[in-house]
Amino acid sequence: MGIDNPQSSQSAEPPRIYLVGGAVRDRLLGLPVVDRDWVVVGATQEDMVARGFEPLPGDFPVFRHPETGEEYALARRETKTGSGYHGFSVETGPDVTLEEDLARRDLTINAMAEDEQGNIIDPFNGREDLELGLLRHVTPAWVEDPVRMLRIARFAARFAPWGFRVAHGTHGLMKKMVASGELAHLQGARVRQEMEKALMTDRPWRFFQVLHACGALEQLFPVLARGLPQEAHDGDDQAAPWQVLSRAVEADAALPLRLVGILQYAVDANHPAEQLSAWLALDRSTSALLREWLDLRARLESASFRNADDWLDLLPLFRQRGEALEQLLSLSMPELAADFLPRLEMARQAAGRVRGEELRQQGWEGRALGEELRRRRKEALTSALENTT
Ligand code: CTP
Repeated sequence: MGIDNPQSSQSAEPPRIYLVGGAVRDRLLGLPVVDRDWVVVGATQEDMVARGFEPLPGDFPVFRHPETGEEYALARRETKTGSGYHGFSVETGPDVTLEEDLARRDLTINAMAEDEQGNIIDPFNGREDLELGLLRHVTPAWVEDPVRMLRIARFAARFAPWGFRVAHGTHGLMKKMVASGELAHLQGARVRQEMEKALMTDRPWRFFQVLHACGALEQLFPVLARGLPQEAHDGDDQAAPWQVLSRAVEADAALPLRLVGILQYAVDANHPAEQLSAWLALDRSTSALLREWLDLRARLESASFRNADDWLDLLPLFRQRGEALEQLLSLSMPELAADFLPRLEMARQAAGRVRGEELRQQGWEGRALGEELRRRRKEALTSALENTT
């Protein structure tokens, strides 16, 4: 590692390096470790630079290892400086201990370290909580970072197969954070990032259930929260949004389908899709898919699709994201999809047989061409519909 070279060390003791956070947790759980984060105790920023580490931009001293590219953070401590939220300061320095660094972390299972000999340092009993399947805060300072609300819900989803749940005292802090209004400081893009990670787990509904149980969902996605049973416990898997997510997991559906699958329940006349898309900073294609899916859903509720005009009005909707819309239909309304999708295919083929190019060759152009196209397609659809009923 080269970091404990005494020649360039400006502090008396050589720095000590620990693997921390998710990597320790995941290894103990027997999961593959993707990212490794390190903490360095007993070093100064100058020590790190002298050893060839590259300082990274940001609020805290974090460095990139010249060979592995992994991140090494100087140990830091958080000290309470006043009352209320954000009433604390962050200090780094060679005197900050590993325990102090671990104490500022969110959950006990994330507050373990491993030294270079493979010993686990675990001042908050994270290992026991891993075995008990408990998501438990490290200190009451947990409430000061609203991102932690999203993280705990995400871990509840990710570790649901192991039966993980929120510890009682931590649930109390979650309610406290909700009551404090701190969630209003969350950026929509951050909410989306954590939600996306949760959506790609095998139990994505747990993310929303955990947020609902403490009242956070009501603040983040009021429409979704209102449509759910008051008590959001494990047994409430019958709620429509959870069923959609469960079908999405079964179908191994891509992220945009999972996003739209759940967000369709988070909009209403007072909370339009455009507003939600903007807040979450959805990419253009996903926000278009949400809009188009809501459009399709509304049309399916209001039209019977027994006449050619209904189909002629509907088909253009499938032009760009037809496949995704069909998948959303299967995920959201499987029974209706079983009846509707074969008819859609039939309508598409019937309309598709009348080609604009042929009309052009016959001398049609401009507006008249458009009208003739629609007239002939209507004819084709009408006869196709007659043949199927
Ligand atoms: N951490 C925290 N509070 C946050 C973000 C991070 O206490 N709001 C701490 C946790 O100790 C966490 C570590 O920083 O384990 C690293 O954070 P990160 O890499 O974002 O998450 P991981 O816990 O490693 O989880 P993941 O598997 O999702 O990367």
